[in-house]
Amino acid sequence: MPVIVEADSASIAPLLAAMPTGSHSVASIDRMHAWLDQHADEYAVVIGPTLSLETALDCAEDLRIKRPTVSVILVRERAETDILTRSMHAGIRDVVAISNEDKGLTKAVERAHQLYMALRGPGGARQLGRVVTVFSPKGGVGKTTSSVNLALALTDRGARKVCLVDLDLAFGDVAITMQLFPTHSIEQAVGSEDSVDLAMLEGLLTRHEDSLTVLAAPAHPDVRERITPLLISRILRALRDGFDYIVVDTSPSFDDATLTALDETDECVIVATLDVPTLKNVKVALETMDMLNIARGHRHLLLNRADDAVGISVEKVESILGMPVSSQVASAMDIAAATNSGTPIVSQKPNHPASIAYAELAASVTGEPVSIPTASAASAPAEQSRSRGLFRRGRNS
Ligand SMILES: Nc1ncnc2c1ncn2[C@@H]1O[C@H](COP(=O)(O)OP(=O)(O)O)[C@@H](O)[C@H]1O
Ligand SMILES: [Mg+2]
Repeated sequence: MPVIVEADSASIAPLLAAMPTGSHSVASIDRMHAWLDQHADEYAVVIGPTLSLETALDCAEDLRIKRPTVSVILVRERAETDILTRSMHAGIRDVVAISNEDKGLTKAVERAHQLYMALRGPGGARQLGRVVTVFSPKGGVGKTTSSVNLALALTDRGARKVCLVDLDLAFGDVAITMQLFPTHSIEQAVGSEDSVDLAMLEGLLTRHEDSLTVLAAPAHPDVRERITPLLISRILRALRDGFDYIVVDTSPSFDDATLTALDETDECVIVATLDVPTLKNVKVALETMDMLNIARGHRHLLLNRADDAVGISVEKVESILGMPVSSQVASAMDIAAATNSGTPIVSQKPNHPASIAYAELAASVTGEPVSIPTASAASAPAEQSRSRGLFRRGRNS
């Protein structure tokens, strides 16, 4: 997805608004190079208005040879003739004036994409998978339960390939939650920063169902120290080649693994519960994500254990956190029981209200309509009518 190089945060938002969802911003040319190293499929670099013309021209000269499939688009206050001439010589593909920036930039990015597709040819047209990170600054709020059920919902009953990555590297419990007994984990990738690819990772994955595989966390907490951020980003990037969605379960802190996942992430699910300490920490986490410019406009708030009786309404949560709730899951013994039996609720009872809520969350993440099994696949008619009501209530994002 296109990347903007711009250090001035006020300039970034209007540019991002004119670009496709999933576009990203970095503060410097160095960060842009790091981004390009990790995203072989990048097709457009947008140079923001506060970077000097010299910097922009040098960058374009460099990319013109090294990465001819990447179009450099320059955003300026005004597109003066002198700028146009020098830009053309440096290999900048488009110059967009800020005054007309909306449509100009959108069209320039579209043209960059068309060129990229043409240069890659028909075989290169496969859409890369998207990384979905499930995060909360609090432990025990239901991150793992949500990751597992969201990953299953995203498979859309086998229509999509999904990989669930356990990045709670010290205390990961995805495998045990799904009653899987992995023979390999991320541990076997330690030291392979330069050789990670899909074929190698496939040997480390544990299959849960046809369309859901898991990259388990190490069996021992001390292995965490040897798993570098570079390894994590290369793993996530390699998985994009083979899966439609990569769901990442995280530890409850901004540790290196979580920050790396968030840096790679296309969509971020934030899990909150209806208690004041958690909401306070989620608010601080959202502010931190704003500062780091992580997943802006691609955040989905999941309220777990969202029961009516606790005294904090959904509206109150939305006003405290300043974002809409994408989906709500009530406290239900069925959820924990299904997990404990090794068949998470989404698989065990597809028409359970919680399963519908996870389907809604999946829809919020994919941007596609909610996909719920038809009545013939329902486990119980009564459950279905209950869930329909909840389905309507929760669709508020
Ligand atoms: N909505 C829910 N209803 C009932 N139990 C839940 C719900 N969400 C999570 N749990 C249970 O709460 C515990 C902690 O959940 P978990 O997903 O492991 O949290 P985290 O990964 O954030 O630490 C687990 O035993 C899980 O089964
Ligand atoms: Mg967990």
